[in-house]
Amino acid sequence: MRTYGVRDWGAGYFGINEAGHMVVMPEKDARRQIDLYEVLEGLRDREISTPVIIRFRDLLKHRLTEIRDAFDSAIRDHAYQGAYACIYPVKVNQQRQLCEEVRDIGSQLGFGLEAGSKPELLAVLGLTENLPTMPIVCNGFKDSEFIETVILATKLGRHIIPVVERFSDLELLVKHAKRYNVRPRIGVRAKPSARGSGRWESSGGMRSKFGLTVIELLHALEFLKQHGMADCLTMIHFHIGSQIGDIRHIKSAVNELAHIYCELKKLGAGLDTIDVGGGMGIDYDGSQSDSPSSVNYGVPEYAADIVYRVKSVCDAAGLPHPRILSESGRAMVAHSSLLIMDVLGKTHFPTDPDLDNVRALMQTENERPQPILELIDAYEALSQPRVNIVEVYHDAVQARDEAMSLFNLGYLSLSMRSATERLFWAVGRKALTLAQAKGELPDDLIDLPQILSDIYYVNFSLFQSLPDHWAIDQLFPICPIHRLHEEPGRRAILADITCDSDGQVDKFIDKKSSHKPVLELHDLKYTGNGELKPEPYYLGVFLLGAYQEVLGDLHNLYGDTHVVHVSFDDSPGVGDWDLDEVIEGDTVKEVLSYVQYDSEDLVRSMRRDVERAVKGGTLSVPEAQNLLKFYDSGMEGYTYLE
Ligand SMILES: Cc1ncc(COP(=O)(O)O)c(C=O)c1O
Repeated sequence: MRTYGVRDWGAGYFGINEAGHMVVMPEKDARRQIDLYEVLEGLRDREISTPVIIRFRDLLKHRLTEIRDAFDSAIRDHAYQGAYACIYPVKVNQQRQLCEEVRDIGSQLGFGLEAGSKPELLAVLGLTENLPTMPIVCNGFKDSEFIETVILATKLGRHIIPVVERFSDLELLVKHAKRYNVRPRIGVRAKPSARGSGRWESSGGMRSKFGLTVIELLHALEFLKQHGMADCLTMIHFHIGSQIGDIRHIKSAVNELAHIYCELKKLGAGLDTIDVGGGMGIDYDGSQSDSPSSVNYGVPEYAADIVYRVKSVCDAAGLPHPRILSESGRAMVAHSSLLIMDVLGKTHFPTDPDLDNVRALMQTENERPQPILELIDAYEALSQPRVNIVEVYHDAVQARDEAMSLFNLGYLSLSMRSATERLFWAVGRKALTLAQAKGELPDDLIDLPQILSDIYYVNFSLFQSLPDHWAIDQLFPICPIHRLHEEPGRRAILADITCDSDGQVDKFIDKKSSHKPVLELHDLKYTGNGELKPEPYYLGVFLLGAYQEVLGDLHNLYGDTHVVHVSFDDSPGVGDWDLDEVIEGDTVKEVLSYVQYDSEDLVRSMRRDVERAVKGGTLSVPEAQNLLKFYDSGMEGYTYLE
C-alpha cells in the first residue's frame, strides 16, 4: 500500500484487500468494496480483453455529491444567500454514456452542462430534453448559426447562457435576440489580471486567448444599454486554467472577479450569477502540494474560499449574493474511471558479472584487454569497506567507454564486448545498491535507477490512453491491481506497443520528489512446460476520467479501448458488482475507415493476390484459406494484442 501511495492519491476510493487485490470503494465505505481483479476475471469470462477502461457510476455519483455537499456547507457556514451549481464541461469527456450519467446524477443535484463548440452544443441540447431548469453554459468560439440556435433554445424554454468571449459574439446575440424577440441570459468572460499557475497558466491573464478586457467589458455593457438589453447581462465568467495547484491563485482570481461583478452590477448590468470556471485540481501524486500533479487544497477548502470571497466582496458593496457556478470538470470525473492493461513481457539487463566466464573467455581468446581488467577491479573494489562508490563508478564508465572504442576500431571481439557490458551493468547495480543503502543518491548516480531498470512491455498505446503523459508530462498513479501483498522486487519503466520511442512511461508519481524514474513491479511468473508464458500481470492506471479518452489519438492505428460501466450490486448472487454497460473498442476495420480505407476493398485486393500466389504455386489452397481467414477476422478484431 505504501509503495504505491494508494492512500495518498486514492482519496478514500481505492484500497487493497486481504487477497492483495486493488479494490474500489465507490462511496468511500470500506464495507462496500469492488475487487478489481475479480471484475477483470469476470470481463475475461465474457471475452472482454485488456486494455479496458472501467467506469464506476457509484463513484461518480459520490464525487458529484461531495462537491454539492462542500458548497452546501460553505453556503450554510457563511450564511450565503445565493445558490450554487456545478457545470460539467462536456469537453472533459464527451462519451455519451458518461454524459448521460453526469446529467442524470447532476439533475438531482441542481447541476448543469457546458458546451464549448457547435457539436458539443447540439449534443448538450439533445441530452437535456425535458430538463428546462438545467443550466447550460456555452463557452468557446461561436458563429451566427451557433448563436441563433442558442437564442431559439432560450425561446424553447431552456436555461441557456451564451458566454461572450469576443465582442463580435455580443453583436450577433443582440441581432438574433431582436429578430426572435427573445430576452437571452448573456454571460461575459472576463480576462482577469490574476493568473493560475503551472501548465495552463496562459489560460488566464490579460494576454489570454479568451475573454474581454475590462475596457471591452465596459464597452459591452454600454452596447447592451444602447439596445435596451443591460438586464440581459446576467453572468460574469472567467477561467484561469485547469489543475490549479495552489489555492492562493483561486482566491485572488475569485476576489478580482467578484469586484468586477459588483462594479458592473452598480453600472446597471442585470447580473445575478458568477461563474468561476474550471481549475479545481486533483491530487494525482498524493503529495497535497502545489506541484503540477497535485493540489494543496481539497474540495471543502475550494468551496469555502469561493463562497467566502464572493460574499465578502458583495457584502462590502451592499449587493445581494449572486448564484455561483463552477465548471469543475476534472474534479467531477477524474476519479471515476481507470484503465487496466496487461503486461506482455519484459527485458532486463544482467547484473551478475559472471567473473568465471569472463576469465575463461580471456584465456580462450588469449587476450587481457585493459578496460575489462579495470571493470573487474571496479566490481571487486565495491566489496571493500569504506569504498568511494562514485569514484569507482567513474572508473567503470571510463573503462566501458574505452572498451567501446576498442570494439569500434576492431580490437575487441563481440564476446569481449558482451563481457564488458555485463561487467558494467554489474558494477552499476552494486554501486546503486550500496549508495541507496547510505541514503540519498549522489548526483553522478542519479540516472542509475533508470539505466538499470527493466522494461515491462504493456498492451496499450500511450498516445491513445494517456495522451497527457506524453504531451505535458502529466503523472497518473500506476500500480499492479493484484499481488499487492508480495514485495515488488523489480524496478521498471513501461513501454507501450506503438512503434514510437516516445511511447513509454518513465516518470511515476512520488510523494517525496516531483517524480521517480522507475516503478516498483513484481517479477513475472511463467507457466507452461515447453513454451514458457508469463502468467497474467495487470497494471491499473488511475484517476483517468478527465480528458484522456477524448484527447487520445490513433497513433499506429491503435483505437479506442473497450469501456465497461460497473456498479455496486447489493443483491445476493455472484460478485458484488454489476456490469451495466459494455462499449466495445474500435475494431481494425473501424480505425482503417477513419483513415479512408474500405475494408471490403482491402479484402478483395488481398484475395486477388492470394489467388495469384496459389496459381503460381507459392501458396497451397489451405494456406491461402488460412491467410484469408486471418485477414478477414483481423478486420473485425480488437486493435490491441489479444
Ligand atoms: C472555459 C473552461 N471551463 C472549464 C474548464 C474545465 O476545467 P477543469 O476541468 O480544470 O475543471 C475548461 C478547461 O480547461 C475551460 O476551458
